[in-house]
Amino acid sequence: MLLKRTPSWHMKESLATDEHIYHNRRQFLKAAGLSGVGLMAASTGLSSLAEAAPITGFPAMRNQAYQLDRDITPEDEATTYTNFYEFGSNKNIWRKAQKLVTDPWMVTIDGLCQNPMELDAADLIKKTGPMEERLYRHRCVEAWAMAVPWTGVPLAKLVALADPKPEARYLVMETFLDPKVAPGQSQSWFPWPYVEALRLDEATHELAFLATGLYGKEMPKQNGAPIRLVVPWKYGFKSIKSITRFSFAAEAPLSFWQESNGNEYGFFANVNPEVPHRRWSQATERLLGTNERVPTQLYNGYGDLVAGLYQNDNPKELFF
Ligand code: MTE
Repeated sequence: MLLKRTPSWHMKESLATDEHIYHNRRQFLKAAGLSGVGLMAASTGLSSLAEAAPITGFPAMRNQAYQLDRDITPEDEATTYTNFYEFGSNKNIWRKAQKLVTDPWMVTIDGLCQNPMELDAADLIKKTGPMEERLYRHRCVEAWAMAVPWTGVPLAKLVALADPKPEARYLVMETFLDPKVAPGQSQSWFPWPYVEALRLDEATHELAFLATGLYGKEMPKQNGAPIRLVVPWKYGFKSIKSITRFSFAAEAPLSFWQESNGNEYGFFANVNPEVPHRRWSQATERLLGTNERVPTQLYNGYGDLVAGLYQNDNPKELFF
């Protein structure tokens, strides 16, 4: 059963406050030996971490377990042809996304888990690292595809850190909300903030990846800095960018695209060449860089690893 989300967002202090004032306040707190995070943790009882700093450790060692059957997409293609509706609905928003401030970047982990916490993205990665690099295929529901080296950590490490309660069945993820920075979020016909979710067995699958970087460098803003999801066996819209919240829930939420257009976008969104989108075929895909068209693969070629997740599910629900 699907539940309608209640708006649960609270804006980051750094975004609600004038940036200049905010930075001065951080300096003051530092001098006093207190971080804003520490103060908040003291007052709320949430576990806390130290000062914000950028995520470091690039390039990370490549995990050779994940090999490609095609060339790596040229970097300038993967970083200038991007979907990030918060900054507009065309592919050419990479310049606009530079306005996003990604350090500090507070992340909330909450809901049905034993260890709720609020911490900076860099601290989260320190706790879930070491980072590694993986070559993955990526397939957008719009029938374009790329193959790129992501840096990051297995999402299962975050789940283990949070320690979900037995009744938790889903991991729900949310993108930042700040229409002053992201003009697309003023488009009231979209249900902001962007929300996505995985079932917990999907979230803890070895392929589910919390990405911090691309091409051996920190994540470009337009590709979802500082942390984003990568689930390569699903259509790209599941791979939510610039995540600020991870919540453990008993019920699946309505995702951003389900709520926008539930006739065309479902919860599972696993790639399948045999199941067309309501408006176009999914039989082939266009490779960014060469524009060559190649056959689409079931589960985007990761069927050997993931098909077992879905043995008890209704096939009619799995592929849109
Ligand atoms: N996440 C957010 N927050 N907003 C978005 O618009 N677009 C999705 C996904 N994650 C999107 C998002 C879609 S449709 C795709 S195909 C991928 O991001 C694109 O990732 P890329 O731009 O890094 O290739």
